Amino acid sequence: MARVSGATRRRFLKHSACTGLALGIWPGALLAQEPASGKLDPGFQPDVELLMTARPAAIGILPGRQTEVLRYEVSLVQGPADTVTEAGTYLAPTLRLRKGQRVRVRFRNELPSQDQIVHWHGLHVPESADGHPRDAVGPGGTYVYEFEVLNRAGTYFYHAHTNMLTGPQVYRGLAGLLLVSDEDERALGLPAGAEDVPIVIQDRRFDADNQLVYLQHHMESQLGFLGDRIFVNGRPDFVLPVETRPYRLRLVNMSNSRIYKLAWKDGTPLTAIGTDGGLLAEPVQRPYLILAPAERVDIWADFRGRTLGSELAMISLPVSAGLPHMMMRHMGGMGGPGMMGHGGMGMGKGPEDVGPNTELEEESPAGAKDDLAEGFTVFRVRIERSAQAGANELPTRLAPFPHYRPEDAANSGDTRVIELSFRHDQGFLNGRSFEMTGAAPEERIPIDSLQIIEFVNPPGHGHGMMAALPHPMHIHGQQFQILRRESFPAYDEDHAALAAGFIDEGLKDTVLVLPGQRVTLLKRFDKFPGLVLYHCHNLEHEDRDMMRNFLVFA
Ligand code: C2O
Ligand code: CU
Ligand code: CU
Repeated sequence: MARVSGATRRRFLKHSACTGLALGIWPGALLAQEPASGKLDPGFQPDVELLMTARPAAIGILPGRQTEVLRYEVSLVQGPADTVTEAGTYLAPTLRLRKGQRVRVRFRNELPSQDQIVHWHGLHVPESADGHPRDAVGPGGTYVYEFEVLNRAGTYFYHAHTNMLTGPQVYRGLAGLLLVSDEDERALGLPAGAEDVPIVIQDRRFDADNQLVYLQHHMESQLGFLGDRIFVNGRPDFVLPVETRPYRLRLVNMSNSRIYKLAWKDGTPLTAIGTDGGLLAEPVQRPYLILAPAERVDIWADFRGRTLGSELAMISLPVSAGLPHMMMRHMGGMGGPGMMGHGGMGMGKGPEDVGPNTELEEESPAGAKDDLAEGFTVFRVRIERSAQAGANELPTRLAPFPHYRPEDAANSGDTRVIELSFRHDQGFLNGRSFEMTGAAPEERIPIDSLQIIEFVNPPGHGHGMMAALPHPMHIHGQQFQILRRESFPAYDEDHAALAAGFIDEGLKDTVLVLPGQRVTLLKRFDKFPGLVLYHCHNLEHEDRDMMRNFLVFA
C-alpha cells in the first residue's frame, strides 16, 4: 500500500517535528528517523488537531502500590479547548467532537515492544482513518488520521485495535470516550454539563501487588476474560453525587467480555434515550438493560423527589440465567461446575448484595468461579443537594432518523447470512477466521448500497469443543438498524431472562447475538470504498480471529 508519497512524508516530518518539540510530546530526534504512515493530505484543513501517544505508565488505582498500565496521552494542537478532558485514571482522555469537524490525529506508538493502532469505534471514517490492524505501527512508529465527523451526536469511544493484542491492550488502559455533539441534540435541551455523565463500566482483576492480571486460567480465552472487581470511569466503588434533578447517564460497556444486566436496585424502570449511534426517536422504558461489550445506552435518570442523603444503586443481575444453561446443555463432556480446576481464581469478596430475581446457586460458564456472577453493585448514586434552578423535562420526541426498509436493500431476498462459531480456541465467521486483507466473495459489497445481513448463532452441537457462546457482533462504518431478533425453537425460554433488556429500535454498531438466536439488520455502506471490519467485540474472541473484512468496492 503506497499511501504516503515521499514528499508527503517529508512535509509531515518537518511539520510534526516542530509541533512535537514545541509541545514537548514527541522527542524531535526520534521523529526525524521515523517515516509516518497513514494519510496526511496537505490540502486537508483540520478544525481539530491532536497529538496522541500510547505509552506505559504507572498510576495509583488502588490504595498502596501503583499499577502498571498503558495510556493514551492526548494533547490539543488546535481546536476548541473542551476537546480533550483528562480522565485522571488509567482511562484515556475523553474527546469531545462536533459533527462536521475535520479532525487530524498524529498518533505515535511509544510502547516499547508492541505494535499499536487506534480505532474510533462507531465513527464512519475512510479506511485509512479507521485503525485497521493492517495499519498498526511498531514501537516508535507514527500514524496520521484525517477524517470528518459524519456521525450524529452520540456516545462513541476509541480503543486499541492491534491484531491479536486488542484484548490485553484495552484491558491495560488503551481506551477512552469519544463524545460527538450536534445541533439537533443541542436543540433538545437535554441535561448537559455536570448533568451529562458518562458511566464507563469495566471489570478488572488485580494481584496482591495491585498489578493487573489478564488471562490466567484455562478457558478464559474461549469464554472471555472476566474481572472480579467493577470499575466505573476507571475507579472502584464509584459513587456519583447528584442533585434532585434529571441526569443523562451515558452507560458504556468498555469491558473485554462481561455482559451486564443493569437495573436500578429499587426496581425503578430505566428510561433509555440513546443507543450506540445516538439519540432514539423517542424514549423507551425497560425493566433492565442488557449491555454487551462495546454497547452504549444513554438513560434519562430523574432524581427529583428522592430524599436528600439517600442512595440508589445500579446493579447488574445475573446474566447466567440466560447463558450457562445453554453452555452446559451443549458442551457435552465439558460441563460440570468445578471441573476446570482453578484454585485461586476468585480473589475478590463475595457478592455484596443482590437484586431481585437472582439465582444464588448459579455457576458461571464452564464452572469457572466468577465472584460477580450472582448480581452486584455497579455504582451508587448519592442524592446530595436539592436542585436550585428549574429542571429539564424529558422530551417526548428525541432525534428521529430515517428507517431503512428491507425491500430497499440491494440484496433484498438474498440476505447475507453470517454464521458465528468458536471452537478449539478460535473464532469463525461462516467457517473462516481473520485474514488481514482477505474478503470472501460473499463479503464483497457494492459501495453506496443498503444491505440486509443476518448473524446466526447456532445453539451448538451435542458434544465436543463447540461451545454455545454469546457474541456481541460489531460492524465498522455506518450505524445499522436491527430488523428482527429471533430465537431458535425451544430457546425462547432461555432468552426470556434477557429479552426485555435489548433496545433494538436505535442506531447500533454492536449487537448481542445469544446462542440460539438470529439477528437480522440493515446497514448502509456509503461513501468510503475499502475494507470494513466486522467482528465479535468479546475482545478475547476478536483476538482469536473472530473477525473478517467486508470489501466495499466502487
Ligand atoms: Cu470497537 Cu473493531 O472495534
Ligand atoms: Cu469499531
Ligand atoms: Cu464472540
